[in-house]
Amino acid sequence: MMDDRVFCIDFGSGFTKVGLRAIPSRDSALLNLPGQQGGGVEFCLPSAVMAEQRDIGQHYEFGYDALGYRTDNRYQLFTNWKGWAFEAGQDQPAGLEAMLQSADFAALAGRYQVSLGQVKSLQYLVEYSRGLVGAGPVSPESLRVRRAKVLADKFFRFLREFTLKAAERLDPPLPNAHDIPVVLAVPAFAPEAELPNHPGVQLLTRALAAAGWPLRQPSAVISEPLANAIGVLTGGCNSLRTTKASKNHPSVTRIDLAKMFGRGPILTAMKDGKFYPLYRALIVDVGAFTTDVAVVELPTHELVDYPAAGIRIRQQSVALGVRNLDEQILAVLPGGQRTYMQTQATARDWEDFRPQVYTDGKPFKTIEVVVGTKAEQPAIKSALGEFGRSVASRVSEFCGDLQPANMQELILTGGGNYIPAVRTAIEAAVALPGSPIVRVSSPTRKTGITDAVARQLDTEAVRGGTALGGASIYFEPKYW
Ligand SMILES: Nc1ncnc2c1ncn2[C@@H]1O[C@H](COP(=O)(O)OP(=O)(O)OP(=O)(O)O)[C@@H](O)[C@H]1O
Ligand SMILES: [Mg+2]
Repeated sequence: MMDDRVFCIDFGSGFTKVGLRAIPSRDSALLNLPGQQGGGVEFCLPSAVMAEQRDIGQHYEFGYDALGYRTDNRYQLFTNWKGWAFEAGQDQPAGLEAMLQSADFAALAGRYQVSLGQVKSLQYLVEYSRGLVGAGPVSPESLRVRRAKVLADKFFRFLREFTLKAAERLDPPLPNAHDIPVVLAVPAFAPEAELPNHPGVQLLTRALAAAGWPLRQPSAVISEPLANAIGVLTGGCNSLRTTKASKNHPSVTRIDLAKMFGRGPILTAMKDGKFYPLYRALIVDVGAFTTDVAVVELPTHELVDYPAAGIRIRQQSVALGVRNLDEQILAVLPGGQRTYMQTQATARDWEDFRPQVYTDGKPFKTIEVVVGTKAEQPAIKSALGEFGRSVASRVSEFCGDLQPANMQELILTGGGNYIPAVRTAIEAAVALPGSPIVRVSSPTRKTGITDAVARQLDTEAVRGGTALGGASIYFEPKYW
């Protein structure tokens, strides 16, 4: 059956990842996207778009091809524009900005033979000099939302071609890949059932459909924290078991949760069922745009016999991520370095900058400039610490009223959790009720939590958990 297959698009603010379930009982896998490697990872495609105004119209570059650009008077580089989509429905344009965006103004411009490029430039000019022109109660969001619509349309169109090309190279081959329905992972800004109606989600799913992606029915979206939790806990394992037919009961095929979760980090807890009747995982994915938090609780002794009964999941996304850290770091850099990173650095430079400065604590050097010299280190360190603490305090808030559990595990994923200051702050802040944290799974073999076992997650789990999990059989109700 065709609808047993699915693509899961984890449209990340920094990087897009695509998961695939090709057959219900086969494990989900991440698509290795052809081309260069995004930040050194073969399944991470930069969500960057470059727009160039040419005489014949706009010209675009996407993904790896956009990384070498910076915004100047010829090119416009868009990175981390996912957040703009989620400003949809928040504000109405007003005043001067509304006039410049109106059909009336477009008609007027047409009468005077003003080019579209000039109209756009005028809109940008007004947006960026709002303070100067005293534009009053205009909404800075409106133009961003309009841009997000265009960018999503173009990006998902490109992503479709790119994905289908990657699918062509799969072994075994993937027949009729263009018919495979798609599910989109989105921030948990609303309860799961209401997510499809969120204006930001609608903006994105409309763009997907317009780009030719068949949307999965009945729901084409899944929340990021939930998908990430399932992806990390199952490692992408899909398993079904068929019951024996008896006189009164026909044979049925059901999801085999014990097997799916049994391969992942819960293994110990399940084997030790009587000592750890309640297993809890706290999963924190620090992305570029959001921090996605999920708590998964499993009564381990019931998992085999009554899988659906016991699993409890709570989740939330907060709009706080590495793009906010970028801003905090810019604010503490000396003028020259700040201007360089704002106006001269390409998207590729930023991808080098973050691991070097945030994770390794080293300076970032180009021919023109050194950012993060010894003199600047204290300010950078304190900005990193502050960002870590603000992420950690949102996580503690979320954990506020949890009931005690016996076996607890902390799982840290997302590119932001490569940054030591972020991990340290989260580890220091989470005090889960019941028992101490028994195990910490993260991108490193280290942990600051005394007595906890540290387990290193592979890159697929750290960066690809959401795409893997979103493609899981776990989300196919017919197998429950
Ligand atoms: N080793 C590293 N050190 C520091 N930063 C890193 C490292 N690797 C990746 N990053 C940065 O981490 C950020 C988050 O990456 P990730 O792929 O998890 O985000 P995303 O999924 O695109 O964002 P979101 O889920 O919020 O939409 C990116 O800005 C990326 O540049
Ligand atoms: Mg993400």
